[in-house]
Amino acid sequence: MSIIKKIITFRPSFTLRILTGLISVLIMLSVCTVVAISDQSGALNRRATNFNARSVEVGAKVYSLQCARCHGLNGEGIEGLGPSLAAESFVGRRKLVIGTDGLATYQTEAPSKRLQQIGWTESLENYIIAVTQAGIPIRSSNVWEVNHPAFLEDFGGPLRRDQIRDVTAFIVNWSLNPLSDDQAILPPAPGEGQAPRPTPVPLTEAQEAGKQVYLQAGCTACHAIRGVGTQGALGPSLNRIYTVAQERIADEKYKQAAQAAGQPVATTPEEYIRQSILYPNAYVVPQCPQGACVAGLMPQNYAQTIKPEDLDKLVDYLSALR
Ligand code: HEC
Ligand code: HEC
Repeated sequence: MSIIKKIITFRPSFTLRILTGLISVLIMLSVCTVVAISDQSGALNRRATNFNARSVEVGAKVYSLQCARCHGLNGEGIEGLGPSLAAESFVGRRKLVIGTDGLATYQTEAPSKRLQQIGWTESLENYIIAVTQAGIPIRSSNVWEVNHPAFLEDFGGPLRRDQIRDVTAFIVNWSLNPLSDDQAILPPAPGEGQAPRPTPVPLTEAQEAGKQVYLQAGCTACHAIRGVGTQGALGPSLNRIYTVAQERIADEKYKQAAQAAGQPVATTPEEYIRQSILYPNAYVVPQCPQGACVAGLMPQNYAQTIKPEDLDKLVDYLSALR
């Protein structure tokens, strides 16, 4: 009893109290240092790796909100709007190596051809950050419709520096599994993009009228034709629909789908285009700018809402896009 009482009533001198306080702070500090130095299990490194994983995850959201509309949801690029950012020729090919210290680092297997081509000697990360922060004040090539926007808030853009770092981490992460170049819209080599575009064949009067039908029927809400109306990105771009239609009708998958849907198999590009407008579900195009095409999204009632003579003009116009 008396010991407990002694402990409770023990009042050390002021100096002693300061001294014990100081000593315990020093002990705590050295314990922390020893733990950090002898981080055998690599817990801190794993935390650094987790941090990168979180950055990639946050970057994915930034990407889909800010970049996908021009670069494609999977980084495949959109004709006329933006080049691929997931192609092997842009991100190169890397693999993730987990060291003995538990730290994951990228190891380059194939470097970015694009950066060699344009003579950028800094890292891929810094290139992406530079373009995204400040934009590209002049257009490097006339295949693109707009100059690159500046995204950093200092330059009037919508993003903070950390968000730009995150979206960069997300894009660099594509190098683990890049798209092959033939699946992607690639930028022209420096200097090549300024070649004059082939002089557009002037539209006939009927085709010009068909263009007006295209604009009035609201096709622009989902489709893009370079320089014509607003640029929708829900359906495929119709920039070269005649050439695309030629490829479609030669494809077995199209023939089988049309037969399964009880539709005649188109044998000319014009027939294919007409069928795509009147019976969109006869064949569902696989790839749209924002990922797989959604069946049933395109209105199914154009047979009722577009007059037959207008439809002829519309098909005539779209057939001029080669
Ligand atoms: C309005 C359309 C548009 C948006 C939105 C857009 N970009 Fe771009 N981006 C382009 C175009 C066009 C180019 C090619 C510009 C040029 O070369 O003149 C490009 C080029 C790039 C390049 C260089 C690619 C190369 O091969 O040299 C990077 C990196 C890039 N964009 C990143 C981004 C990121 C990250 C975002 C989202 C934060 C984004 N972009 C949003 C249109 C866009
Ligand atoms: C609400 C969105 C939407 C509207 C509006 C729309 N489309 Fe589509 N369209 C799509 C989608 C999505 C696809 C791809 C899926 C499919 O094949 O049904 C498509 C496919 C097509 C195709 C086939 C393209 C190819 O690559 O084979 C053509 C041609 C087409 N649309 C023309 C038109 C025309 C012309 C109009 C206006 C009269 C129009 N669309 C209106 C969404 C739309």
